[in-house]
Amino acid sequence: TIVRLADYRPSDYLIDRVDLDVRLHPTETRVTATLALRPNPDGEPGAPLVLDGDELTLLAIALDGQPTGPGAIAVTPRSLTLHQPPQRPFVLAIETQVNPSANTKLMGLYRSNGVYCTQCEADGFRRITYFLDRPDVLAVYTTRIEGERADTPVLLGNGNPVAQGEIGLTRHYAIWHDPHPKPAYLFALVGGRLGRVGSRFTTMEGREVEIAVYVEPGKEGRAGFALDAVARSMAWDERTFGRAYDLDVFNVVAVSDFNMGAMENKGLNIFNDKYVLASPDTATDSDYANIEAIIAHEYFHNWSGNRVTCRDWFQLCLKEGLTVFRDQEFSSDERSRPVHRIADVRTLRARQFPEDAGPLAHPVRPRAYREINNFYTATVYEKGAEIVRMLRTLLGPDTFRRGMDRYFATCDGTAATVEDFLAAFAHESGRDLTAFAQWYEQAGTPTVAVSGTYDPAARTYALAFRQSLPVVATEAAAGAVDRPQLIQPQLIQPLVIPVALGLVAREGGPVEAVSERVHDGVFVLETAEDTLVFEDVAAPPVPSLFRGFSAPVKVEHALTRDERLTLLAHDGDAFNRWQAAQSLAMDVLVGRAKAGAPRDAEAGPEGAALSAALATFLDGEALADPAFAALVLTLPEEQEVAQTLQAEVDPDAIWRARQSLRVQLGRDLGPRLRALRAALAEPAGTPFSPDAASAGRRALRNAALDLVTAADPDAGTALALAQLDAATTMTDRLAALASVSLVPGEAREGALARFGETYRHEPLVLDKWFAVQAMIPEDGTPDRIRGLMRHPAFSLGNPNRVRSLIASFSLNNPTQFHRPDGAGYDLTVEVVLALDGKNPQVAARLLTSFNTWRMVEGGRRRRAEAALRRVAEAPGLSPDVSDIAGRSLAAA
Ligand code: ARG
Ligand code: ZN
Repeated sequence: TIVRLADYRPSDYLIDRVDLDVRLHPTETRVTATLALRPNPDGEPGAPLVLDGDELTLLAIALDGQPTGPGAIAVTPRSLTLHQPPQRPFVLAIETQVNPSANTKLMGLYRSNGVYCTQCEADGFRRITYFLDRPDVLAVYTTRIEGERADTPVLLGNGNPVAQGEIGLTRHYAIWHDPHPKPAYLFALVGGRLGRVGSRFTTMEGREVEIAVYVEPGKEGRAGFALDAVARSMAWDERTFGRAYDLDVFNVVAVSDFNMGAMENKGLNIFNDKYVLASPDTATDSDYANIEAIIAHEYFHNWSGNRVTCRDWFQLCLKEGLTVFRDQEFSSDERSRPVHRIADVRTLRARQFPEDAGPLAHPVRPRAYREINNFYTATVYEKGAEIVRMLRTLLGPDTFRRGMDRYFATCDGTAATVEDFLAAFAHESGRDLTAFAQWYEQAGTPTVAVSGTYDPAARTYALAFRQSLPVVATEAAAGAVDRPQLIQPQLIQPLVIPVALGLVAREGGPVEAVSERVHDGVFVLETAEDTLVFEDVAAPPVPSLFRGFSAPVKVEHALTRDERLTLLAHDGDAFNRWQAAQSLAMDVLVGRAKAGAPRDAEAGPEGAALSAALATFLDGEALADPAFAALVLTLPEEQEVAQTLQAEVDPDAIWRARQSLRVQLGRDLGPRLRALRAALAEPAGTPFSPDAASAGRRALRNAALDLVTAADPDAGTALALAQLDAATTMTDRLAALASVSLVPGEAREGALARFGETYRHEPLVLDKWFAVQAMIPEDGTPDRIRGLMRHPAFSLGNPNRVRSLIASFSLNNPTQFHRPDGAGYDLTVEVVLALDGKNPQVAARLLTSFNTWRMVEGGRRRRAEAALRRVAEAPGLSPDVSDIAGRSLAAA
């Protein structure tokens, strides 16, 4: 069944209070829910009450304390209907039984590593009890949790703890009360043997908050960084948005089996342990950065998501896009703003652009879905965050902040919509944001084509802009495509595109030209075509456009190599300096890939020009900002090159093109890169710090290692093996292993075997080891993966293992996933089908690796299509996988 935004109706009944009594048992957990209901004045009077369920067994039910009469209710595992509810407030008491140990979907109540935990977003609460499981039904919850003291010494719920006590000799209970009304998707409980680290935070309102992070006993030493990140997040949200925490406790629990990254349940955030646990020996710098970002993300949801929640799931971007924007800003403030911005844009281009260009494209606010869990996408999250960022760019930081304040003030305690959000900013700015709202409605990445003309006589410089949306979105917009997510109610509308820009002199330095249409460095493109004229320009300048990546668009701007070199050397905007290097590299990669990347490519003159520019750059400032330098040295990923080529893509040619340029840069820059490695070496005994500066030095050392190894595999492998032995951080050890893994031979196999042995009891480290092997761009990789699937540490039941070993292959190993013989597609499909019966959400996510299938050349394309058809036609598919398969195959 398809759910449509246009069909939204308020619930016929509301639930004001929920009293839950949960008696934990590994296979027979009993849940009694006492619901205080009333007819919704905005609903249909006299309508039946239909509660949602999913795989539930009803044990008992009472209406206002009395058994319901014969025929009064209809019950299935998926729903409970009360045919004639009282048309006044009433109480329904429902007892259900669930089996947490058999819950391999990891939705609802399940056991992970012996710990009881829950995941209710989007629709998991209905797997715990019958309920109005929709985000616009907000209730106050009191939860009593009971369990064996030995198995579940720790019992956690939402809100504040209010009571606990013993029951007989072996059992005990805890009662939690959450005073803030919330939708069911924010419900959570945890019961288990857990270690705890804690601290306190005093809010700006003077509230004393107990913060705690719970982890597997024995891993407390790895929880300190996450704990500190909670306190830093709380302080930042007060400083930056004036948002204070609103309960007496804030708990974070790490579990080892989790479908996503983490979940913002009120006062009780539950995390994938990968995003909590960190020690220098087990976590890389990017793990530390991710932990900090995700801790912040879930904490920030307390306001953007929980205090103000979503009316329906079409509004998912209302909380997710906004909260990603907030966590990006937090990381930028805590670390380096330009470096963080570049990292975010790389993610957007690597994940969201392909999604928006493929068969799974959808607007940031979709209009229809079959399975909502398939819409927790890069588009909703990352493009959603870009929309909020554009809003700030358009309105300026002060008006933006006032708009945020107004949004929180007017929508607090409600289930809101994108319209409510925009109304707050329209009110504060006095602007009409109707045209801007199109960003939420239209799928596809816009392209902005720009050309500059200098008129020496008039001393003017004109920039002509033209915006367009790609055909895939255009067709869908016209309703020509039978894909519900893409059918658009109106033809393509021009988007409101903020273009942050400046002019750079050819010899360096900014050009102070005037245009009354540029305010605070931003020009707003609002029509399909427009021309911006700068007056009084003495000489032809080089335009620096979309500074800081001011809009999520593709830019077509035919700059010469020299112009790009000028920007790399002289632009005042760090993002665009990096972008200039990327564009130079992209031009080389695209040229070589189109030529089939012949052997002699390694000496091509365009590559040599890039080497020369990078040499100057490195000599000048590599040591001043190593993190930035590491990004400048990193070539665009193969997937990004594929996106640029768009059609009839040959992944092997792209790989050879990229390899040839790595070899060329490694040769040309070799002595410099070795000298940099030496200059950046940490003196023995330097204590570990995960801070951005230390991480930046490691990043540059390892980027240098990568290029050195490409140019001289023997010498590079020797360096890498030495680093592998001597490393004191997981960052350096893993970078060394990755370098070694690209050079076939005994040294590699030995190093891999030693690493696997050393960390055999560390699942999160073995995940990195699985991923390194899954990404080896060689014919033997599918067999290697099949072998590793039999490794004692691998399990299809654990989402992290599946993502490490299988998704790393399908998403990050393009030559092998898209093998001409179809073996990469076969492996992926085999795992999707094996997994679907256990965990449909993770299976469906894995299948999205096919979203680029239409771009690849004919032979591969036919094999990919056949593989997708095998999935689509398999018997007994979950709605999750069937939805992805169906949309992936729908006619373009
Ligand atoms: N709200 C969570 C977050 O982004 C993600 C939950 C995803 N759950 C799901 N079933 N898809 O912080
Ligand atoms: Zn989120």
